[in-house]
Amino acid sequence: MRLSLSSIVKKSIMAVTGLALCGFVLAHMAGNLQIFLGQDALNAYAAKLQHLGPFLWLMRIGLLVCFVAHIVTAALLTVENRLARPSPYLHQATVKATFASRTLPMTGLIVLGFLIYHLAHFTFKLTHPEHAHLSDALGRHDVYSMVVLSFREWPVSVAYVAAMVPLCLHLSHGAASLFQTLGLRHERYQPAIRCAARGFALLILAGNSSIPLAVLVGAVKLPGGA
Ligand code: HEM
Repeated sequence: MRLSLSSIVKKSIMAVTGLALCGFVLAHMAGNLQIFLGQDALNAYAAKLQHLGPFLWLMRIGLLVCFVAHIVTAALLTVENRLARPSPYLHQATVKATFASRTLPMTGLIVLGFLIYHLAHFTFKLTHPEHAHLSDALGRHDVYSMVVLSFREWPVSVAYVAAMVPLCLHLSHGAASLFQTLGLRHERYQPAIRCAARGFALLILAGNSSIPLAVLVGAVKLPGGA
């Protein structure tokens, strides 16, 4: 009884933190898509975020707590599942083991690897230190030029687009199972939930991939058309 209660708590932590992370991924993508509105729009958005000051730090700490809790709980559940006697009937009765569900730990690890690279790239500017001091005509950090200059390097663009595939797979199963954990278990709702989760995952795949691809094909250029 104690074991199953602790599993329920862990699954609830996975679901709540997963929901928060889905919200972040969607909001982050919506913010980044402003690159299609031009340099001023993206840089103004980035500057507005910076001006949130302590509130931005509160959001960053909340995000970090969600990431860490999600990963640690996932690891604990994986170990717990491996140690437990396999009970295939219990699992198959609720969720059909799709490719996305079977590869959930693997795609999660790849997304974590991407995130470490992504933070080293755009946040800490370790991979491209020459982008650290880019500023626009208004003296704001020139996030627009930083993104365009980065994605003009095809290996960087390819790495980003490639990382969006495991992210999409992870979201398509994760988003569906979080609804189950949060109580929407009825068989009647499953097709709609699965469909919404896949739609959400494909939206993230298409939206995020469109940015490096648009830069690579020259649809998004440096200010001045270069
Ligand atoms: C093509 C897709 C993406 C682009 C163009 C992009 C762009 C950026 C940029 C420019 C920054 C730095 C913002 C700044 O310093 O002003 C950033 C930060 C960040 N990105 Fe992304 N991103 C993408 C996808 C993702 C994905 C898929 C995730 C999560 C899985 C993610 C998570 C983060 C995080 C956690 C930060 C740090 C936020 C902070 O410092 O407050 N990004 N991203």
